[in-house]
Amino acid sequence: MQILFVGDIFGSAGRKIFRDHLRHVVESHKADLVIANAENAAGGFGLTPAIAEELLDLGCDVLTTGNHVWDKREIMDYLSSANGNANSRARRVLRPANYAPTVPGVGLFEGVTKGGQSYAVINLQGRVFMQTNDDPFRKADELLSKVNSKVIVVDMHAEATSEKIAMGWYLDGRVTAVLGTHTHVPTADTRVLPKGTAYQTDVGMTGPYDSVIGVEKEQILHRFLTGLPGRFEAAKGDPRFCGVLIACDPATGHASSIQRLMLGE
Ligand SMILES: [Fe+2]
Repeated sequence: MQILFVGDIFGSAGRKIFRDHLRHVVESHKADLVIANAENAAGGFGLTPAIAEELLDLGCDVLTTGNHVWDKREIMDYLSSANGNANSRARRVLRPANYAPTVPGVGLFEGVTKGGQSYAVINLQGRVFMQTNDDPFRKADELLSKVNSKVIVVDMHAEATSEKIAMGWYLDGRVTAVLGTHTHVPTADTRVLPKGTAYQTDVGMTGPYDSVIGVEKEQILHRFLTGLPGRFEAAKGDPRFCGVLIACDPATGHASSIQRLMLGE
């Protein structure tokens, strides 16, 4: 089984490069399952229902998010619309599972691919240098105790490299992949851990690299040089598609390989 996981789709430039490459990447690698982090797909901040639907229409099976999930308020009603309706498309859009249980949405999706293979996707958020959440490690234990699928992909949306690597080791052999998102720069530590979990600290942004992690670089430099408030806008230049391809045995859920992808225009 082949899984494509695409890193943080950022703004319109990210959505365009994603559209440009998705079909041929899926076809050439025979991807059975497509997952993308979309928390910054709407202008670099948040995700609207229309953009979520657009990404699902393009071929994403599941969308994950993170700390920017509430930036566009309308996503709250969209996530709530999936309550009690397991087949709703909104159910395929996740927010981190270790948020307060009373907020809209959920952080676990279990589904079946077109080829009939069951899978699960878990979305977690780190706690180091981020806003307060419940413990992502114990939340992972809790969710794994109820998951039926062998193939399980975890998006660990976190700032600290150490926390992401720790999650990789914690879940090694228990999930198919632990993939980091949020920091927007792909890391070169792509590997399969000893017990069969594919791992990369950050998958990298699918968005404009002529930027500071997606935002117009002059605006970020102005902030660093003056400390003054100002608008942050999504950059456009040098868009790249970043993701990883994972091969796994659907009978065990163990990964046999993970490959890093970065495609430009
Ligand atoms: Fe983030």
